[in-house]
Amino acid sequence: MTDFTQSSWFANPAEGPDQNAFEGAFPMYGRAYHQDPAAAFDEMRRHGPVVPILLEGDVPGWLVLGYRELRYVLSNPKLFVRDSRYWNQWDNIPPDWPLMAYVGYQPSMLFEIGEAHERRAGAVSEALAAADQFELRANCERVTEGLINTFIGSGRADLMAQYANPIPLLVLGSMLGLPDADTRALVGEVATTLNGGPAAMEAYGRVQAIMTGLLELKRREPGPDLPSRLLAHPANLTDEELIQDLLLTMTAGHDPTATWIGNTLQLMLTDDRFAMTLSGGRRSVGQALNEVLWKEAPGQIAIGRWPIMDTQVGGRRIRAGDLLVSGLAAANLDPKVRPDFHEGSVGNHAHMSFGYGAHGCPHPAPEIAEIIAHIAVETLLDRLPDVVLAVPQSSLEWRSSIQMRSLESLPVEFTPGYRI
Ligand code: HEM
Repeated sequence: MTDFTQSSWFANPAEGPDQNAFEGAFPMYGRAYHQDPAAAFDEMRRHGPVVPILLEGDVPGWLVLGYRELRYVLSNPKLFVRDSRYWNQWDNIPPDWPLMAYVGYQPSMLFEIGEAHERRAGAVSEALAAADQFELRANCERVTEGLINTFIGSGRADLMAQYANPIPLLVLGSMLGLPDADTRALVGEVATTLNGGPAAMEAYGRVQAIMTGLLELKRREPGPDLPSRLLAHPANLTDEELIQDLLLTMTAGHDPTATWIGNTLQLMLTDDRFAMTLSGGRRSVGQALNEVLWKEAPGQIAIGRWPIMDTQVGGRRIRAGDLLVSGLAAANLDPKVRPDFHEGSVGNHAHMSFGYGAHGCPHPAPEIAEIIAHIAVETLLDRLPDVVLAVPQSSLEWRSSIQMRSLESLPVEFTPGYRI
């Protein structure tokens, strides 16, 4: 695993951020922030569409919260690059910084710029688009029905741990042509690599072994899966590129889709407009899924973008190599664009929850996520028609993640049923 994070050759450390600009910066950490980020965004917005922030460890950055300003930044990937090696703070970042997983360089397409990025992202998009939709749906049904079978007899479940979290993992694993057991092992190892330290290096060795074995198998016996399609793609990706981009597809797809499922179930269980116990008349699963993308975006922020030269955004002077954090959820809540859900804005998909521009969620990943999430929510409602929260809504806890707006757990109860 290449570690460029300590190198000073890439960034231009000559100046660093303007320290005066960070007086009074908003801390984006701590329990109060994580339990109600929307309230924090409202407060920050009073200071403009781009505000100085402090990340964990009081690391300075800028949060882009205005919808227009965020679109501007994400539409200019050659000025605001996705490659963290341009950061002017590397000399001040300890190797065990808790947010290292979001900024540590990996040779995946996430960090590529311009044509090099188009070559790799284009190949992944085409390989995803060639996936058989009927097979994808059948897989989602197999996975969701199988998970419900494991708890339906008990009358109780934690819908995060026992349902929402494993679903995208198992579905994406089968798109990779991996058996379920290998998928679980792979994801555990990838999580360990992101934590850093010696255990991370060992885990990365095991990840590489699983992926190299997978590529060897698919070279010998191509199948209807992503690795086989990427191996045959005219972009001629190297083995390292293939491994990196397949892992990225898996990790970038898993957590947000699980979170989308969990947040939608939570909305439907707690909001009368979606009351599930009434027969008929309730708002649809599609409406709930879209409302969550606007109001409770699975990925609240994306870290980050780094301007390659001094510039201005939203009236702020930004130095070359300053960190810009994309405020996806904050931009969705920007009063200038936010739809009124009581008026029924089901058709409005102009939110920023899938990002935007060259490094946004690649076509057709959002559609794949929607198929998975839709089937997950609908299957659960069909199998457990009287499901209700097992705890007061006020006791639900949110994960203390700066990126994911995801519940720790979602305990429910229902009349026990039978396995099918
Ligand atoms: C609810 C589900 C999902 C959400 C909310 C989501 C959101 C996002 C966002 C916001 C980005 C841009 C990050 C940035 O600007 O730095 C992104 C990138 C990406 N997503 Fe998704 N995503 C979802 C599902 C998926 C799925 C299912 C896949 C794969 C099948 C996927 C694959 C990717 C990849 C590969 C990238 C990197 C694109 C690049 O850098 O060129 N995502 N996603």
